[in-house]
Amino acid sequence: MQLDSLFTYDSVALNAAGDGVVIVDQTLLPGEERFLTLRDEHEVYEAIAKLRVRGAPAIGIAAAYGLYVASRRAAAEPGFDIANARDEFYRISRYLCSARPTAVNLSAALRRMERRFDSLAARLAFPELLEALHGEAEAIKAEDMAMCRSIAGFGAELISRPGMGILTHCNAGHYAVSRYGTALAPIYLAQSRGMAPRVYVDETRPLMQGARITAFELQKAGVDVTLQCDNMAASLMASGKIDLIFTGCDRVAANGDTANKIGTSALAVLASYYHIPFYILGPTSSIDPTTVSGADIPVEQRGEDEVTELYFRKRIAPEGISVYNPAFDITPASLISGIVTEKGVFRYPYDFSDLKQKDLAL
Ligand code: MRU
Repeated sequence: MQLDSLFTYDSVALNAAGDGVVIVDQTLLPGEERFLTLRDEHEVYEAIAKLRVRGAPAIGIAAAYGLYVASRRAAAEPGFDIANARDEFYRISRYLCSARPTAVNLSAALRRMERRFDSLAARLAFPELLEALHGEAEAIKAEDMAMCRSIAGFGAELISRPGMGILTHCNAGHYAVSRYGTALAPIYLAQSRGMAPRVYVDETRPLMQGARITAFELQKAGVDVTLQCDNMAASLMASGKIDLIFTGCDRVAANGDTANKIGTSALAVLASYYHIPFYILGPTSSIDPTTVSGADIPVEQRGEDEVTELYFRKRIAPEGISVYNPAFDITPASLISGIVTEKGVFRYPYDFSDLKQKDLAL
């Protein structure tokens, strides 16, 4: 697969000394590719909450590394009491978990680290336990890369003709994972196979992940990409230029209802009207069997300033105005043509019961 040469760095990594989480500050893209090294739980929390690192898989990986780095740092403090190690580890984990509520990858990665801690704590001395936690965080990242490569393969089969028009929303690409992406990975693969997909990117109001990040990474990779405002989607679909819609996911409920960036469900409704296949692409670790339906998914509400002023030279809305700013919405399972995972493509009505427990967000 010719994906490797596309990306020269990972969006999330552990530094060589093992004492810092290295991320690209995504709030500065596309103007600047600035790397930040996060050295304790407060810096990791801030980076996740402020979307310096964002995208469901990427925040899970950053949190797993962050939990390791912060635990290692706490253990090196003078007066660290080994008897409190578990309490301290869980305190950091719960704190990081509270940075954002919707993407299940965040809580799932942290729970996985907690399980590793508890399974080894009685057998290992603390330095060895820390090493095992380091290994677990690295495994979460390595699995993420492998899942994205596999999603690329299954998703690329849907891009069946040269020059197909694909609409995407938000950023489910390289920056939203550790490498390659979910919704964008098949596009990169199809491009490398000479299929020359034409990709349309929603700006993705209010935080502009489409305009700032997706447009940037696709353009850098030489993909034919066109940017549009979110409210142009219906007109674009009506024009006949769109053959497929590919988006990522933050949490897939047991019945297939899917949370993704606000605006995704509107695309699914339009796609149904215009008879355009609408696909969600994500790892099985985004499927949460403990969440029965979309109604049970917690939807993050974000600050008013993101709507009224953040990306404007001058505030555009009247002072004191009430603002509605949910970061995600829920697309009903019945509007999703397929959910493309590293295990293959699931179709409606969704049934994930054949997946092994270890693959799911638990
Ligand atoms: O608020 P964000 O930018 O973290 O929202 C991200 C998305 O909605 C992505 O589509 C999703 O996390 C999938 S990333 C592979």
